[in-house]
Amino acid sequence: MSHPLHILAVAGSLGEKSSSCAVLKLVVEQLRAAGCEVDLLDLHAEPLAMFSPDTTYAAPHYAALAARVARADVLLLATPDYHGSLSSALKNFLDHCWKEFAGKLFAAIVASHEKGLTVHDQLRTIARQCYAWSLPYGVSFADKEDVQDGRVVSENFQKRLAMLVHDVRVYGELLARQRRADLAGKEPGFLARHRK
Ligand SMILES: Cc1cc2nc3c(=O)[nH]c(=O)nc-3n(C[C@H](O)[C@H](O)[C@H](O)COP(=O)(O)O)c2cc1C
Repeated sequence: MSHPLHILAVAGSLGEKSSSCAVLKLVVEQLRAAGCEVDLLDLHAEPLAMFSPDTTYAAPHYAALAARVARADVLLLATPDYHGSLSSALKNFLDHCWKEFAGKLFAAIVASHEKGLTVHDQLRTIARQCYAWSLPYGVSFADKEDVQDGRVVSENFQKRLAMLVHDVRVYGELLARQRRADLAGKEPGFLARHRK
């Protein structure tokens, strides 16, 4: 039985003309063309109420959101660099789940004028806390230099996006296959506690 790779792509800028969202959409197109099933969650178009541990789990929107995350094999996250960190909108989204992230691949695109290294580090920390894998690198770009009016204008950045599309697909599939096997098996791996 073949399993298409399911990707949840999350656009974490609330800016109307967000460059990180524009780049994410280009990557989504390429992943779909390569046969992946991609669900796009644009937090500008679909605002998410602030997470509260007291009320969110019983809120009407929560079950559908958690199901979208549960269905994904890969979390592809795009965010602007805000004060050396991820956007509050993306952090708020990430706060909504953790078990649903376990054993999955996180990949990130950051709009930054400073390479976004601290943002990637923080996303990696969040992934680790939730038992998720991270790609061993992050992709960053500078608005106007690399992207103009939603178009990629730098050859270097174009190449890094092609690398990202390849690696999300290849490593996403490898990890998804192993995750399914571990969830279905009886071995004592870290996913044992997530068996139903
Ligand atoms: C509140 C705020 C904080 C920011 N902090 C940084 C920063 O620390 N480093 C940086 O390189 N850019 C910073 N920026 C610039 C944004 O990261 C940059 O404009 C980015 O391209 C916006 O992405 P977007 O178009 O997807 O929203 C900041 C912008 C805002 C509004």
